[in-house]
Amino acid sequence: MSNTPHPGHSDGADVVERIERSWAIVAVGLIVVLVAMVVYTGLHWAMMPPSRVETIDPTTLHVTGEFIESNLGTAREADGSVTVRVVAQQYSFTPQCILVPAGTPVTFRVTSADVVHGFLVTDTNINSMVEPGYVSTFKTKFDKPAEHLMPCHEYCGTGHEGMWANVKAIDRAEFDKLAATARRLSCVK
Ligand code: CUA
Repeated sequence: MSNTPHPGHSDGADVVERIERSWAIVAVGLIVVLVAMVVYTGLHWAMMPPSRVETIDPTTLHVTGEFIESNLGTAREADGSVTVRVVAQQYSFTPQCILVPAGTPVTFRVTSADVVHGFLVTDTNINSMVEPGYVSTFKTKFDKPAEHLMPCHEYCGTGHEGMWANVKAIDRAEFDKLAATARRLSCVK
């Protein structure tokens, strides 16, 4: 270190500087990785914070509005997409078996009639809470015909562990055939 103005101290200062620089690189690297994860999950899984809050009166769900029993289940929209409406209550989902077409954008609209429940569909990006007074909306697509479990994964009372439903993705053509005969579809037998 012939060019340093303070011989004797230069080695220590160099070491400190080198260590500080490497820690700074680690910290910046971590931030880059975390931001990349947020961007990746946002784009790849369409996982992002809800852009709006939709409220609903949980005491009149069964009497009036979108979530009356005859309106629950799967509906085919004019543009070919599909909307599924579900009500969660202690300790079941209505309908208990949800029928969806594969390879089609599916929007779930879910609300609770009583307490906070969980809403998760295995092998999809859907994993959320369902709160009374709010409508939770999720968009997903089922790649191929398959059966998925839909367990409640938020503790909601003594019957919590028995609260789950099924989602059955079927071939689009088969779905359309069924949709031609009924306004709302489900696979409840
Ligand atoms: Cu509903 Cu746990």
